[in-house]
Amino acid sequence: MIQKHLVLLPGDGIGPEVVAQAVKALRVVEKRFGVSFSMETALMGGAAIDAAGVPLPPETVAACKKADAVLLGAVGGPKWDGLPNNVRPEAGLLGIRKELGLFANLRPSTVFPELASLSCLRPDLVEKGVDILVVRELTGDVYFGKPAGEEVRDGLRYAFNNMIYNESEIRRIARVAFAAARKRGKRVCSVDKANVLVVGRLWRAVVEEAHKEFPDVDLSHMYVDNCAMQLIMNPGQFDVIVTGNIFGDILSDESAAVAGSLGMLPSASLSGTAGEGGVGLYEPVHGSAPDIAGRDKANPLATILSVAMMLRLSFGLVEAADAVEKAVREVLREGWRTGDIAAGRAEKVVGCIAMGDLVAAGIENAR
Ligand code: IPM
Ligand code: MG
Repeated sequence: MIQKHLVLLPGDGIGPEVVAQAVKALRVVEKRFGVSFSMETALMGGAAIDAAGVPLPPETVAACKKADAVLLGAVGGPKWDGLPNNVRPEAGLLGIRKELGLFANLRPSTVFPELASLSCLRPDLVEKGVDILVVRELTGDVYFGKPAGEEVRDGLRYAFNNMIYNESEIRRIARVAFAAARKRGKRVCSVDKANVLVVGRLWRAVVEEAHKEFPDVDLSHMYVDNCAMQLIMNPGQFDVIVTGNIFGDILSDESAAVAGSLGMLPSASLSGTAGEGGVGLYEPVHGSAPDIAGRDKANPLATILSVAMMLRLSFGLVEAADAVEKAVREVLREGWRTGDIAAGRAEKVVGCIAMGDLVAAGIENAR
C-alpha cells in the first residue's frame, strides 16, 4: 500500500467547496488504486489573515514542506482588497511558491469537445482541437526581482519592479518544457520580448542551449505580443509554450479563455521535472469567485482535474489519474453541468456537491 501525505489549503471563496469535492474523488481513488492518503488542512490567504493575521503562517509553510503534495483551492476576495500588497491573500500564494521552490507552473488548456461552444473563439478555430500546455516560470521575473519599491524623486512618485532572470533559472524551466513536450506533441514555442528587452535575449540564448539536450523536440520562438495574437487567431498551432512569470500569467489566462471554461482548468506547480522529488502544489486556475461562494454553485472539475495531475506527476499513479480524467469526461458526455459551463437546454445543471458525487461515482465504476 502506497502512503502519501497531503496538505489541503482550501483558502477563500469557493476554495473550500471545490477542495471538498476533490477530497471526495481522492477517497474513491484510495478504495480502488492501492494508495492511502493522510490529509491535514492548513491556513492560507484571506482565511489565514482572519485567523492568524498573516496570509501565510509559518506553520503552513512547515506543513507543506513535509507533505508529499499540496492541494490548494483559491485565495483572495473583496474583503481583503484594501490591504497593502505584501499582506494581501495573494502574497500567501506568492510566498508558498517561493518557499517550496515551485519554479515550474504547468497550465494545460484543452477544449473538451462537449464544451467547445463555450470557447470565446469561432467554432472553426477550435473544432480542429486545442491542446496547449503553458509552462510558466513561477519564482522569478518582475514578480520577485529586486530592487522593487516606491519612492519620491524630485517630488514625483515612482514605483519600480525589476525584470531579472539568471541563466540557471531559464535553463531549468526550459528543460521542464522540453521534457513535457517529449510526452506530447514534441513542439516547444518559447515566448519572450527579445526585440526590446535584454532579459529576452538571454532567455532565447539559454533556451537554445537547453534545446541541444532535446534534439527530438522542435523549438520555435515568438515575441509575446505576437503570441497573444496567435493564440486567438490560430490556437491549434501550439503544443507547449514556455515563458517567464509575467508573460505566462497573462498568456495562461488567455489560453484559458480560448478553452472556454476557466472552471475546467487544472494546474501544477513543481520544483523539478516530474518524479524528481520535491513537493508539488496543485490548484485550479480559476480564482475564489466570491460572488458564488457558499452557495453550492462552484464548478469542482478544475480542482478534481488538478488531483489527476497530482496523481500522475507527483505519485506516478497513471491509472488512477486516467480514471479521474475519464470520469470527468464521462460526466460531461452524459450532459451534467455546473452553471458556469451550461449552455444548452439538454444539459442537466447541478451544484458543486452533486457534481462531485457524479465524478466520484464515475471513478468508482471506472474500468
Ligand atoms: C495566477 C494568479 C496569481 C499570479 C495571483 C493571484 C498572485 O493570477 O496564479 O495566475 O499572478 O501568479
Ligand atoms: Mg494569473
